[in-house]
This record gives sequence, C-alpha cells and structure tokens, in this order.
Amino acid sequence: MADNLHPMTAISEFMRQVRDDVDASLDLLVPTAGVRPKRLHEAIRWSLFAGGKRIRPAIVYAVGGAFGAERKSLGPSAAAIEMIHTFSLIHDDLPAMDDDDLRRGRETCHVKYGEATAILAGDALQTLAFQVLAEDEGLTPEIRIQLIADIARASGTPKGMVAGQQLDLAFEGQDPVRVPIKVLELIHSRKTGALISASAKAGAIIGGALADELVAIERYASQIGLLFQVTDDLLDVTQATETLGKTAGKDIVADKATYPRHFGVDETRKMAVAIRDEACEALAAIDRETSLLVGLAHLIVDRTN
Ligand code: IPE
Ligand code: IPE
Ligand code: MG
Ligand code: MG
Ligand code: MG
Repeated sequence: MADNLHPMTAISEFMRQVRDDVDASLDLLVPTAGVRPKRLHEAIRWSLFAGGKRIRPAIVYAVGGAFGAERKSLGPSAAAIEMIHTFSLIHDDLPAMDDDDLRRGRETCHVKYGEATAILAGDALQTLAFQVLAEDEGLTPEIRIQLIADIARASGTPKGMVAGQQLDLAFEGQDPVRVPIKVLELIHSRKTGALISASAKAGAIIGGALADELVAIERYASQIGLLFQVTDDLLDVTQATETLGKTAGKDIVADKATYPRHFGVDETRKMAVAIRDEACEALAAIDRETSLLVGLAHLIVDRTN
C-alpha cells in the first residue's frame, strides 16, 4: 500500500484494481457467450459479471502481496476462487435452497435461465475452477496440488462450504435463540469462513510464507471468514434491498439461524468488532507489512453490502 495515501483511499484503490484484474482474468478463462452451448455460457457470465465485491480475490492478492508474491502469480487462483464462490451463490439462490430472485442487483441465474441451466452453470464454474488451478503454469506442480487440495477441502465436506450449507438448511426453522453459539459459529465458519480462509492460505502459500506465518494467517483468516458471515447476517436486517443487490430481510422470512436473530443487532455489532480485533491481533505475530490485511478486516465489518 502506498504510504502517502489515506488508508481508506488506499483500500478502495486496492479493491478497484482487484476488481479490474479479476474481471479481466475471468473473462479470459470462461467460454464466451457465443460458444455452444450458448445458454450455459450466457448464464455463467450473467452471474459472474454482475458486480460482485470480489472480496475473496482481494484476500488472495492482499495476503500474497504481504508475503512478496508477484501479482501475476496470484491471478489464476484468485479467479478460480471467485468461480467457486459464484457457483455457491447460484446454487444458494435455487428454489430448493434459499429461493431468492435477486442477486448482485439482477435476476438470479435460475429466474433468468431456468433451474436446470442454473444448476449446470454452478457445476461448470466449480469444475472450471479446479481446471484453472491444475493448469496454472505460473506455479510449481507442488503448489498447484496443495492449492487444489486446500480449496477442495474448503469447498466441500465435512468441513467446507457444502457441509456448512447443509447445516444452514438443517437449522432453518429452529428457534434461533436455542441454537447454541458454538453451532452458529460452526455453520458460519463452514458455509462462508472456509472459502475465505482458503483464499488467505492460497495467497500465503504462493508467497512462500513460513510455517509459523501460515499459522498466524490461518488464525487471521478464520476470524475474518466468520466475520464476513456475521456481517452478512447484520446487513440482511439493517440494509435496503437496493443497497444489498439481494432481497433484504430474507433470513427472518426463511427462519434462518443467524447472529442478529440470536443476539440482537446491537450485541451482534459488538461481537463483530471483537472478532475483527481478534483477526488483527493474529497479524501481530507476522513481521511483514500487514496494514492492507488490517484494512480488509475493517472493510468487512464496515461495508454496506
Ligand atoms: C455473499 O457473499 C454470500 C456469503 C457467503 C455471505 P458476498 O457478499 O461476497 O457476495 P458478492 O460476491 O459480493 O456478490
Ligand atoms: C450463503 O449464505 C453462503 C454461501 C455459501 C453461498 P447466505 O445464504 O446468507 O448468503 P446470501 O445472503 O444469500 O448472499
Ligand atoms: Mg444460504
Ligand atoms: Mg442465501
Ligand atoms: Mg445472507
């Protein structure tokens, strides 16, 4: 981060650059809408290029940068993780799951293209992500294998996103106050935290972080991963649909187990700040320039969408 910039300006400039880079990489990696089957590729692009925040790629770039990784060595991994995230959103919105009709400010994939195409668009994004990781010639085969294993673990089951999504559904309809905090933390850490942690770890591995640095990054990442979903829960009750780009107030209607429903908005805000501070404390163990990572932790709580 440039020293002469105000921290807020520096982080928004950093995020802008990440969005530009990741959009350019995704555009090259994903079949164009003219390639057959056109409907599938249109659907993928509809969901992918709809103005997501690109937080996970930003974490890959920020952590990789802290460990001295070259920017171009981070691009394919950042794009692959964004593909997996977008696949998770497409499937999360399906009628069988959260049944949402608005995502990233436009119609959800299944509303626009039908359920079958939305399911296939998600499937294709997931497999393309692992293909991109496997074929990334900018990284050694050893690093590629490690990233594939870590990202697959974070995306699947028993400790990854898919497992978290199953738990999220299992606890739907239960009195949120009776869902123990440990269970709530587990659901959030799996459905959302795991892929965010994998993003940070990918950056650290590509940057060649030492074993004790990796431990500190994993501590930081597990906190910001949890924090991201706690904040998502808060935004669902505090922000308008237009700001979110997805329907506000859905968690109450769907009877989801969320932090604000368990603890109330004010208490959840305090908890979020405490989680952010714990994340930042973990960085103290690393003798590198980590101000951007501190900035990202703040951005995650302070965001409005
Ligand atoms: C939304 O993720 C779903 C969660 C995991 C909480 P984001 O808030 O990162 O969504 P986009 O990518 O910006 O649309
Ligand atoms: C989604 O959590 C987590 C995913 C793995 C996609 P939510 O269901 O709360 O995400 P939104 O609010 O629909 O974006
Ligand atoms: Mg959901
Ligand atoms: Mg949802
Ligand atoms: Mg949500």
